[in-house]
Amino acid sequence: MSHYPFAGPHRFARNQWYIGAWSAEVGPEPLGRTILGEDVVFYRTSSGDVAALSGICPHRWAPLAKGRVVEDAIQCPYHGAAFDRSGRCTLVPSQPRTPPTLRLRAYPVIERGPCIWIWPGDADLADALLLPDQDSLGLGAAGWRADYGGPVLVNARAQIILENLFDQSHINFVHPQTLGGPESRSDPHQDEVFDTRDRFCVVHRMAARATDDSVRALFPDAGDYVAAHLHVELLGVSLIDAVGSRTFSTDAAGGAPRALGCMNFVHGLTPQTPTTTHYFNAVTRNFALDIAELSTFLVEHNAKVMREDIALLEAIELSLDRVADARKEVTFAADAVAMQVRRRIERIAAADSRVVLI
Ligand code: FES
Ligand SMILES: [Fe+2]
Repeated sequence: MSHYPFAGPHRFARNQWYIGAWSAEVGPEPLGRTILGEDVVFYRTSSGDVAALSGICPHRWAPLAKGRVVEDAIQCPYHGAAFDRSGRCTLVPSQPRTPPTLRLRAYPVIERGPCIWIWPGDADLADALLLPDQDSLGLGAAGWRADYGGPVLVNARAQIILENLFDQSHINFVHPQTLGGPESRSDPHQDEVFDTRDRFCVVHRMAARATDDSVRALFPDAGDYVAAHLHVELLGVSLIDAVGSRTFSTDAAGGAPRALGCMNFVHGLTPQTPTTTHYFNAVTRNFALDIAELSTFLVEHNAKVMREDIALLEAIELSLDRVADARKEVTFAADAVAMQVRRRIERIAAADSRVVLI
């Protein structure tokens, strides 16, 4: 049976990095989270390292997130077996010896800035060089301010959330007050697409406009005209910037651009199950860092926009398994970019499962 929106059966792209948690969520208390269908327990050791282990005790299947961390090991709440951060059993209180086969799976994790990345696939293939370039989006990078939200659990599959972020033609209908209106951009034909191994990026260049007071408040160095480039991009399979803006000081014709600043709306999509998704988000910028009201406004605005999308996507999810068939659906011209993203994810997932089989 095919798993919408893919034509084939369900499979996650496992050999990839996903945001498992924000750094701030993981401390010495265990945090349980289902990721790509697997129960995981996160905790932080006394040296500050993050452990990510399979979250179910292999003795009688108790959830380890209900246990506690003792001397850097997670102790099961049922009969007290303890496991260190490599997954090795270090203690069975009712007997002197620990069974060597009683182990937890240890997931590769990398903590970088505000993100704890987890690799749910083959641990031997985990490679820090494959981490999505979070610095370019200002996540934890020097000179940027980031305001974080989530994770929110969304009752919709990750792929429809991802495609929605690349779909401009829904904006006037789903976001008429928050994003829509006469100035919303509706002509996808002006967009440039950059399709590389690490990222897929769509850039829309806005025409130069006279600098007004609201622009000058944010960019005191702006000249008489400013122009913006809007970005929607996918890094890896799970990190999206939608919509990022690069603002330039320029002349009336848009010439001699000088960079003023960047702002990004960052979305991290980590499947929980085939039909539910952990949704991490952040608003980042590298200008007007001290204007707290701007952060408050951006975070509230972003949350409002996300709620509008989530409400619709969750309503769509309710009937997808009964009605949707990617092989029969009709695609509008405006869906072209989202379809490119779908094909890209499909290719990655296919290549990924071949790797696992070798
Ligand atoms: S279920 Fe964990 S020790 Fe028994
Ligand atoms: Fe939307």
